[in-house]
Amino acid sequence: MRRVYLDNAATTRVAPEVVEVVVAYMQDKYGNPSSVHEFGRTVRRSLQTARQQVAELINANCPGEIYFTGSGTEADNLAIKGIVLNGEGKRHIITSAVEHHAILHTCEDLEENHGCRVTYLPVNGYGMVDPASVREAIADDTALVSIMYANNEVGTIQPIREIAAICREKGVLMHTDAVQGVGQLPIDVQADGVDMLTLSAHKIYGPKGVGALYVRSGVKIRPIIHGGGQERGLRSGTEGIPAIMGLGKAAELARLRLPEYGERLTRLRDRLITGLLERVPYSCLNGHPVKRLPANANISFSSVEGEALLLDLDLHGIAASSGSACSSGSEAPSHVLTAMGVSVEEARGSVRLTLGLETSAEDIDYTIDTLAAVVERLRAFSPLGEKGAQHV
Ligand SMILES: Cc1ncc(COP(=O)(O)O)c(C=O)c1O
Repeated sequence: MRRVYLDNAATTRVAPEVVEVVVAYMQDKYGNPSSVHEFGRTVRRSLQTARQQVAELINANCPGEIYFTGSGTEADNLAIKGIVLNGEGKRHIITSAVEHHAILHTCEDLEENHGCRVTYLPVNGYGMVDPASVREAIADDTALVSIMYANNEVGTIQPIREIAAICREKGVLMHTDAVQGVGQLPIDVQADGVDMLTLSAHKIYGPKGVGALYVRSGVKIRPIIHGGGQERGLRSGTEGIPAIMGLGKAAELARLRLPEYGERLTRLRDRLITGLLERVPYSCLNGHPVKRLPANANISFSSVEGEALLLDLDLHGIAASSGSACSSGSEAPSHVLTAMGVSVEEARGSVRLTLGLETSAEDIDYTIDTLAAVVERLRAFSPLGEKGAQHV
C-alpha cells in the first residue's frame, strides 16, 4: 500500500544530515559545554555554530540573540512569562483567539494565578487578526503583544509587520510564535520588526524536544527556569547538545532550500486544494486562500465526521489530522475554526493536510482520489446526505 505522510505540521521526519550531526554529538563530542577541558571547549564552540545557524535563518542581528529551550512550548512560556514577570509591573497581554495552546494556556495561567489581564483578539473568517484591533487594545499597562506568525491548523499568515509597527510606535513589546512559519516563509526578524520569536526544531526536519527563542538585544526578560545559569542565565539546565546541534543543522538546511521549497510546496498545495474542491461537492477551504502557509490545506466536508475520515484515510495509508477534536479528546470543535465563525458541523468535518519535503505530485493525486472516494462512502451512510446540516 502507498503511504503518504500529510501531517508535517504535527511533526517532520528528521533529515539524514541532521541525524548524522545528532549522532556525532552523542557518540563522540559528548563534553559538557560548561567544562573547562578540551571536551567541553569543543562543544562550547559548536554551540556557537548552532546559534549562528539559527540566527541566520531568521536574520537575527547576532547569535547572542538566540536562546535554546526544551521546545517551542517552552520558548512561548519564556517569552510571555519572562516579560510579564520582569519586574516592570505591567500586567496586560494582548494575543489572539487562534493561538496555539502553548500561548493560550500560558495566558490563562497568568490570568488565574498572577493577576494578569489578557485581551484575546477576534479574527475574521480567514482567521486573520485586524492590526487596527491591536492598536485599539493597547493600554498603559500593556506589557506584550503576542500574535502567531502563521496558524498551525488553517495556515493563515498574520499581518505581522503591520502589527509589529504598531507595537513599536506604541512602545509595546511584540512576540510572535513562528513555529509553523519558520522554514516555510522567508522570516526576517529585523525587517518584520518583532522583539521576540519562537521556533521549534521538529517542524523543520530537526529533532523533537528542542526549540529557540529569539530575543532582540536590549529586551528585559526574566528566566522562568533557574539553576546553573546556562544560556546566559535565561535558561538554566545543561544544554541538550545533540538536539541543539540538530536544530542548528536543520536551520542551515532550511535557509538553503528557501525559497524553492516554498514555491514547490505552494504548487503542490494548490493542486491538492483545487483537486479536492473540484472533485468533492459541498467542500470548502478553511483559512486564507493566498495568505496561507505553503504546506497547509485545511478543508471541510459537510455531513462527514473528521475523525471517521481520518481513520478511513489511515486505512488507505494517508496520515492527516482533523480540526474537529481538541487534544483532550472532547467533542468540542477546534477553537481556531470556532473563532473563525465556522459552523460546528463544518468544523467537525474538517481535515488538515500538511505537505513536506517528501511529498510528490503522485502523493497529491492519490490523496485526492482517495479522499473523494472516502467522503462519498461516508456520506452514503450519513442521514444528512452530502449537503450536510447547514444546507438543509
Ligand atoms: C504554532 C505552534 N506553536 C507552538 C507549538 C509547540 O511546539 P513544540 O511541539 O516544540 O512544543 C506548536 C506545535 O505544534 C505549534 O504549531
